[in-house]
Amino acid sequence: MTTRFDTVIARQNSGSTKWDDAATLFGSKDVLPFWVADMDFAAPPAVTEALAARVEHGIFGYPSPHSYAYDAVTAWLENRHNWQANPDWMLSTPGVVTAITLAVQTFTNPNDKVIIQPPVYPPFFSCVESQGRTVLENPLVYEDGEYRMDFADLAAKAKEAKMLILCSPHNPVGRVWSQSELTQLINICLENNVLIVADEIHGDLVYSGHQYIPLASLQTGNEDKIITLTAPSKTFNTAGLYTSIAIIPDSKLRRQFSQVLQQLGISKSNVFGITALEAAYRHGGPWLDELLVYLEGNTEYLTEFITGNIPAIKVSKPQGTYLAWLDCRNLNLPQQELAKFFASNAKVGLNDGATFGRQGSGFMRLNFGCPRPVLAEGLNRIAQAVNQLG
Ligand SMILES: Cc1ncc(COP(=O)(O)O)c(C=O)c1O
Repeated sequence: MTTRFDTVIARQNSGSTKWDDAATLFGSKDVLPFWVADMDFAAPPAVTEALAARVEHGIFGYPSPHSYAYDAVTAWLENRHNWQANPDWMLSTPGVVTAITLAVQTFTNPNDKVIIQPPVYPPFFSCVESQGRTVLENPLVYEDGEYRMDFADLAAKAKEAKMLILCSPHNPVGRVWSQSELTQLINICLENNVLIVADEIHGDLVYSGHQYIPLASLQTGNEDKIITLTAPSKTFNTAGLYTSIAIIPDSKLRRQFSQVLQQLGISKSNVFGITALEAAYRHGGPWLDELLVYLEGNTEYLTEFITGNIPAIKVSKPQGTYLAWLDCRNLNLPQQELAKFFASNAKVGLNDGATFGRQGSGFMRLNFGCPRPVLAEGLNRIAQAVNQLG
């Protein structure tokens, strides 16, 4: 049975970084892109219709998100993820990466230490370092094809840290953290007075058998020590609209953060971004349910294909996200050669694992948020190139 997600929509020459920057980045026009985290699917009709109606209205004055959009976020989080987040706790931010940088700037001092858990989304390093703070690594442990947190190491590092940036679900390893893992993490951070910034942008993208639990919903009585960053942008493929939400229950922290947004002149939302956000959260549920079935089908296709046809590459079925983390260490290529091999020999554009921290050396990240025929073409290209390696 084909679905709307099987439709291939040409994105070449549409001003897309994923497609139009690939030739420069990977050195060839023939590279099929599976890198930056946006999907090759149209956003839900509810979103495109709301945007069209906004265009039709013709007036694009300053929007007032708290008057309509924050309620939609609250309803979404409550109905879908069982978290009662008060709309008064919300601030609009122009992207989660910006919000992480500003949280580091606002709530830590120069030279303070900030814990991250590599291999992890590369901006987690730069958001800390660009503010003159020091990254303290609490690397994930990789055992039998699965990643877990190292709590003993976290407990030791937390003694010297001011903040922890959590990636939940985790990009690139695809873990959806369990309640027990999240509770242990909170307890360690609280004992050591470490503020948690929880990047939950991939929270809606979780597959069967797993559940995304918003960290601040755990009701440990310490929600005030958690800043949650979320957005509809991964879920509904609206990343170019740069609209995200910071949820800060503690009024003092919220005021401080809000002041920084105002000083920088970025406290107002973009009218299209906030229109799309509201429509997605109010009406996008059924579309998302369909998307998750399709993406889970892609996880199965991908893991079966790789296991059956490219045994030199190891991959675990992701529990969440549309990103697969390929263990290519058995190809025995130095990292630079590995990245070059994918781009030049296989003609596919994947993210170089080493950019996720030194723990990512020997790995590559593949974005499978695309129609299955495109995924199949990419995987075939990889299989052929690996076979030619001999
Ligand atoms: C964990 C994580 N955080 C943030 C972002 C980007 O967020 P934004 O585009 O809102 O800055 C991404 C995009 O891939 C991501 O994977």
